[in-house]
Amino acid sequence: MNTPIQTESATGALFGNLFAAYDDASFKFSVDLFERRFRDGGFDVSWFKDKKCLDAGCGGGRYSIAMAHLGASAVDGIDLSELGIADAKRRANDLGAAHVNFQVGSVAALPYADSTFDCVIASGVLMHTTDPVKVLSELCRVIKPGGILYMLVYATEGLRWPLVQMLRPIAQYIGFETIDAAVAKAGMLAPRRRTYLDDLFVPCIDFYTWQCLEGMLKANGLENATRWTRGRLDQEETLGTYVKDLSGFLEVFQAVPGDAARTAAAICQSVGDHATRIATDVSAGRLSEADGRTQAIGQGHHRFTASKA
Ligand SMILES: C[S@@+](CC[C@H](N)C(=O)[O-])C[C@H]1O[C@@H](n2cnc3c(N)ncnc32)[C@H](O)[C@@H]1O
Repeated sequence: MNTPIQTESATGALFGNLFAAYDDASFKFSVDLFERRFRDGGFDVSWFKDKKCLDAGCGGGRYSIAMAHLGASAVDGIDLSELGIADAKRRANDLGAAHVNFQVGSVAALPYADSTFDCVIASGVLMHTTDPVKVLSELCRVIKPGGILYMLVYATEGLRWPLVQMLRPIAQYIGFETIDAAVAKAGMLAPRRRTYLDDLFVPCIDFYTWQCLEGMLKANGLENATRWTRGRLDQEETLGTYVKDLSGFLEVFQAVPGDAARTAAAICQSVGDHATRIATDVSAGRLSEADGRTQAIGQGHHRFTASKA
């Protein structure tokens, strides 16, 4: 059993490795995704102008840079990963993002005074932390009254997460290097590599119901929690993209030699077949699109904003 410090160190090292592998074009694409996603989510992105923003768990800094490009007066990015922060500094410089400051640190002990930021974002972070209650209270502490929090948090439903839970111990047994080599053999570029290796190897992975998140936000003085149902622009966009994403796990394990990988591939095949059946039933009109989504994807990721009273 790892200590929280060992877990944090392994988490930082994993994400530093995964984000640093993005080439310039795919990194820029993922910077631009921020604006597209916020617009599609119904958020007026001109709001960012002259705002002081924090990107908590900033990884390679793509969303810090996006907020700077949208006119934020200052952006702080903080992450556990030394490699991630070094990479973020270089990327911000290359992309001419002004007033961005990156530092290594933990979102469970933020080095900022209370009520510092107009906006705090923590995208894909909470569920990978060892003390999410402390983390959420830290994020809320540094938001100014009237300021906003944006988060992406994994939800409990859908076929992908039970699949990931079944695959994780097998992936651990096979080992990161072997699976990474299989990802390369399957021809997956850095963004897809991150999707699969993140979920298979991140030390801490938790799932939240919306009710649980709402309760946690309220307990920290946040209100108007609004869950976005549009602007997914990810594997949950359609049933087709979801099925394709699931099939990536099969591709990976088929490229690994040995019995353990064969077992993993059989699990992937059976979950993938189930998802395909749902998609086929929708295409054939035997199931409504909404019911098909519910059965395969569930509610989907929680992407939401909330404001501090
Ligand atoms: C899925 S990545 C998301 C990165 C970034 N938000 C993005 O969307 O590009 C999760 C990030 O959270 C960071 N992280 C996890 N726990 C953390 C903690 N306690 N303090 C700071 N960063 C943390 C990881 O190092 C990683 O870069």
